[in-house]
Amino acid sequence: MIIEDSYNEMIVKLSALYPKREAENILAYIFEDIFKQRKPYSLEKQFNQEQTTLLDIILTRLLLHEPWQYIVGEADFFGEKFLVNPSVLIPRPETEELVFNIFSDCKAANLKVLDIGTGSGCIAIMLSKKMKNATVHAVDICPMALDTAVENAERLNTAVKFWLCDILQARCRKSLPVFDVIVSNPPYINPKEKKQMADNVVKYEPHNALFTSNDDSLEFYREILNFANEGHLSESGKLYLELNQYLADETEILAQSMGFRNTKIIRDLQNAPRMLSVSKT
Ligand SMILES: C[S@@+](CC[C@H](N)C(=O)[O-])C[C@H]1O[C@@H](n2cnc3c(N)ncnc32)[C@H](O)[C@@H]1O
Repeated sequence: MIIEDSYNEMIVKLSALYPKREAENILAYIFEDIFKQRKPYSLEKQFNQEQTTLLDIILTRLLLHEPWQYIVGEADFFGEKFLVNPSVLIPRPETEELVFNIFSDCKAANLKVLDIGTGSGCIAIMLSKKMKNATVHAVDICPMALDTAVENAERLNTAVKFWLCDILQARCRKSLPVFDVIVSNPPYINPKEKKQMADNVVKYEPHNALFTSNDDSLEFYREILNFANEGHLSESGKLYLELNQYLADETEILAQSMGFRNTKIIRDLQNAPRMLSVSKT
C-alpha cells in the first residue's frame, strides 16, 4: 500500500480512540521509529508485504488501547529516549518538571541522591546527568523494572547505583545510607479508583507502579517520610515527592505532622499541584 494512503487510513481509525492531534503524533512516531519514514510521506513508495503485515499488527494493538510507547519499546523523557516495557511505568511529562525543579534547586556539588521506585530509571538517570558530581542511588521492588533501568543507565552513559528493595520493609530501609536528596514518584492511586481509569493505563501499565497496597492513598508518602525520619535524610537534606494532585494538601499536612519544615507545593504546567518539597531544618 502507498505510504501516504496507509497513514491516512490509520489516522481515521485511530481518531476514533484518540484526539486527532494525538493520533497524528503517535503515527508520526511509529512511522519514523519503526519504518524510518518521515513526513511528507511518499506518494509513490509502497510498504512491502512484510511492512504491511507489521503495520496491521501495530494498528490492532493500538486499537486495543495498548500505549504506543510499549509498542515501539521507547519513551521520550527530558530529551532522551528511555527503553520501556510493561514492567515499567511510561515516564510522564509532569515527572520531567519534577526533575527540572530538583536540579534547579540543588546546586551544590557531590550530593548523595536517592530515587525511590525508580521504574525505567528516568528520574535517577536524568538527575545523575544534570547534578554536578552527584552520587545517585535508586531502588525498586520489581526486578524486571530494575533490569530496564540498568539498561537505560548504560545506554545513557550514567553511573546510577540500583538496588532491589521494598521501601515498605524495615530490613531493606535499614540497609540504605543517609542521603542529601530523596525523591520519589510513588504509587499513589487507591485501588478503588481502578474502574474509572483509562484502559490504556489500567490494562497495560504495571499495577505495582500505580496502586497503593491498600485503601490508604498516602501509604507510600507516609512510609517515605518515615524513612527520611529514620535518619536517612541528612540534617540539611531535602525530600521531593511527586503528588497525587487530589491529595496535595493532605500530603503536605502529613509531612508537617511528621516534623518536616519548609513544606512547599509546586504546581505543574497544567496548574495542578504536582510536587511537594520538604526539609528537616
Ligand atoms: C509511579 S512508578 C514511578 C516510576 C518512575 N520513577 C517514574 O517516575 O516514571 C512507582 C514505582 O515504584 C515501584 N514500587 C512499588 N512498590 C514499591 C516498594 N514497596 N518499594 C520500592 N519500589 C516500589 C514500582 O515498581 C514503580 O516502578
